[in-house]
Amino acid sequence: MMSMQYRTPSRLSRPLSVIGQGCWQIGADWGEVTDDSARAVLDAALEAGITFFDTADVYGDGRSEQLVGAMRTRLAESGGAEAPFVATKASRRADPFAPETFTEQNLRAWVERSRQNLAMDTLDLVQLHCPPPAIYREDRVFDVLDALAEEKKIAAWGVSVETCQEALLSLEREHLASIQIILNPFRLKPLDEVLLAAAEKGVAIITRVPLASGLLTGKFSPSSQFAANDHRSFNRHGEAFDQGETFSGVEYETGLTAVARLEQALDGEMPLAEASLRWILAQPGVTAAIPGASSGEQARRNAAAGSAPTAEQEAVLERFDAAVHETYDELLRETIHPRW
Ligand SMILES: NC(=O)c1ccc[n+]([C@@H]2O[C@H](COP(=O)([O-])OP(=O)(O)OC[C@H]3O[C@@H](n4cnc5c(N)ncnc54)[C@H](OP(=O)(O)O)[C@@H]3O)[C@@H](O)[C@H]2O)c1
Repeated sequence: MMSMQYRTPSRLSRPLSVIGQGCWQIGADWGEVTDDSARAVLDAALEAGITFFDTADVYGDGRSEQLVGAMRTRLAESGGAEAPFVATKASRRADPFAPETFTEQNLRAWVERSRQNLAMDTLDLVQLHCPPPAIYREDRVFDVLDALAEEKKIAAWGVSVETCQEALLSLEREHLASIQIILNPFRLKPLDEVLLAAAEKGVAIITRVPLASGLLTGKFSPSSQFAANDHRSFNRHGEAFDQGETFSGVEYETGLTAVARLEQALDGEMPLAEASLRWILAQPGVTAAIPGASSGEQARRNAAAGSAPTAEQEAVLERFDAAVHETYDELLRETIHPRW
């Protein structure tokens, strides 16, 4: 079996598996995920060497955190491996677009609830969950996070951002440990400045939506159907939350054309999903990619992309990289680059 790689950004000081498990799906916010299939995702991830799980207090209104917490407890009781690293998120349990929501009282209550859901005294990492831009310029929220760290309720804090500008603003915070940002073959702007700036400070870069909500697996077609409660049905134009979170902000048909070009460059030598994940991990400054999965099999396949590439794989990835930049410049840059 190929073995998972681990990276240790200095501001986190704990190793993260380069493939982390995205746990939005197991909250069952999009499509049905039974408790059994949620557990199958988590078990497959653990077995494949994943030691990093990304969740949020709002995923399934706490269900995702509780499932991850139960997994931690099961592991601890079996007396086996070191506890996995769990990143959660706070700040979307009240109006997430209103800076007034971000009170000390609310932040403390949300962190308290996550500690209970996850059954952890000290949360490994709490990320602000895409707060409104004004929050990045104010000290008050970051002061509360620092206080929570001093009280050992949390070990570290970070931000999940929508835009590169927000990422750069957050980097001015001395105690920022991580930035979660969208980076994938359809989202190249973080390569301009953000990755390097974060690396210089030892801030972890956690790349989300690495498969552009599944588009970058090549499994979709013009006739693909999505359930009514799946954001790939109802948020294509940002109706419910930021448009960039669905298919990475790429218009669906354009995305299919871009996928066909990338598949052509790969010429069957590597599956597109694996190439996309390996390409992300090869960008200097990236700590981990966190693909979501709706089955254990998907989690297993994604985890396999966390091994060190062989010389043959590197040659394929070099060709892929050229196609990624060409496709982005010709089909995507104009709509994606100015916005995120
Ligand atoms: N604001 C935020 O902070 C924020 C926002 C979004 C996501 N996230 C985090 O980032 C994680 C990843 O983002 P994401 O889940 O939205 O997008 P993603 O990882 O780009 O796409 C996940 C979807 O891709 C498909 N997929 C994954 N692996 C596959 C494989 N090996 N073969 C075939 N299909 C596969 C599945 O689709 P099907 O469901 O069709 O099987 C899965 O639901 C989330 O789970 C969450 O932890 C954070």
